[in-house]
Amino acid sequence: MSKSLGKAWEIIRAHEKYRSKTLNLIPSENILSLKALKALSTDLAGRYALRPEFYAGTRYIHELWNYAEEITRKLFKVDYVLLEPLSGHVAAILVSHTFAKNRRIVTLPSEYGGYPGYEKIKIPDLVGAELVELPVSKEYFTPLIEEGIRVIEEYKPELVVLGGSMILFPHPVREFSDIVHRYGGILAYDASHVLGLIAGGVFQDPIREGADIVYASTHKTFPGPQGAVILTNDPEVYKKLSENIYHKIVDNIHLNRLAAYAVTVEEMLKYGQTYAKKVIENAKHLASSLDSLGIHLKARDKGYTESHQIILDIPDDEARIKVRNRLEECGIIADAGVRFGTNEVTRRGMGKREMEKIAKLIHRALEGEDPKKVKREVQILMKKFSTVRFC
Ligand SMILES: Cc1ncc(COP(=O)(O)O)c(C=O)c1O
Repeated sequence: MSKSLGKAWEIIRAHEKYRSKTLNLIPSENILSLKALKALSTDLAGRYALRPEFYAGTRYIHELWNYAEEITRKLFKVDYVLLEPLSGHVAAILVSHTFAKNRRIVTLPSEYGGYPGYEKIKIPDLVGAELVELPVSKEYFTPLIEEGIRVIEEYKPELVVLGGSMILFPHPVREFSDIVHRYGGILAYDASHVLGLIAGGVFQDPIREGADIVYASTHKTFPGPQGAVILTNDPEVYKKLSENIYHKIVDNIHLNRLAAYAVTVEEMLKYGQTYAKKVIENAKHLASSLDSLGIHLKARDKGYTESHQIILDIPDDEARIKVRNRLEECGIIADAGVRFGTNEVTRRGMGKREMEKIAKLIHRALEGEDPKKVKREVQILMKKFSTVRFC
């Protein structure tokens, strides 16, 4: 790298080189197509646009914004969409502020799959809401239906949030929605992790099952730029959320993000179903391959997963961090929850054979083989799968 490009570019290049040689199993990440990446570095990266129009020079921006909304409605078969929130977390704040300010939120505990942003001292305290946790299965990371219904009936929370950060199986949207609606509550579904699977029609369909709102990051199983989307069929819900956007949770909505997102929606309209189906197949296959090598996983008796994630059964935080660090020494990137996600490897075109290979590499890493040897094989694998597919 030439010195004239500066220190920042040196670091950027070093990062790109490093990540291109490592195998990414973080379920909250993905890779963008070249077209979507390019959209991030267009003139849009430095522009402003507001509704109603305030800035001149934005005729194409408004056309793009309307188009992005139109194809989002088409992809998710919904009447209303909001593309303004800059991230899943911001969308969660918007939904909580709109429907649960100084009221009550019921959701899953973060230890068993709920989004950590809903821990009491975080979003609930920020919007002055009381937090009540849903009873959950500690093996499957799903809400318990009868016990959950009892909690909802007792507390009558204004906002119930299903979905979450560790999600192996569909959540009981259908089972909870009637009860929530009976007393006038709102059922939201945080699809940050599974949005790409929902787009592909291979996971649950929360809106059709009775959720009032789906909100999600656009960069986990949905392989777009970092950002968020909110979906609803309810005009009142749409109106209330819209009233809390400008100069409350956002001003400029980052138009290069919007552009890259629109490109990704086009890709998902065309290839989303095949991609999403393959993501889940790969997750199941990676899980059974790891299991056959003696690595313990959650939800074994239920086939490990119906999503992109699998969760290693490791008893404590310290041990989980050790596993994450050991894997990184061997060129395999995971998080400290030790959840693995097959979204990125699938987008690179990997299939059953590679899942078996990855399971063996993980096993060898955890068995204490020389990290250099494992890393070398990871690099060979990554070299073969360096292009983005399904786009
Ligand atoms: C379930 C869930 N919701 C929200 C978020 C926050 O999303 P973002 O990183 O887009 O702000 C996350 C982050 O990983 C998540 O797992």
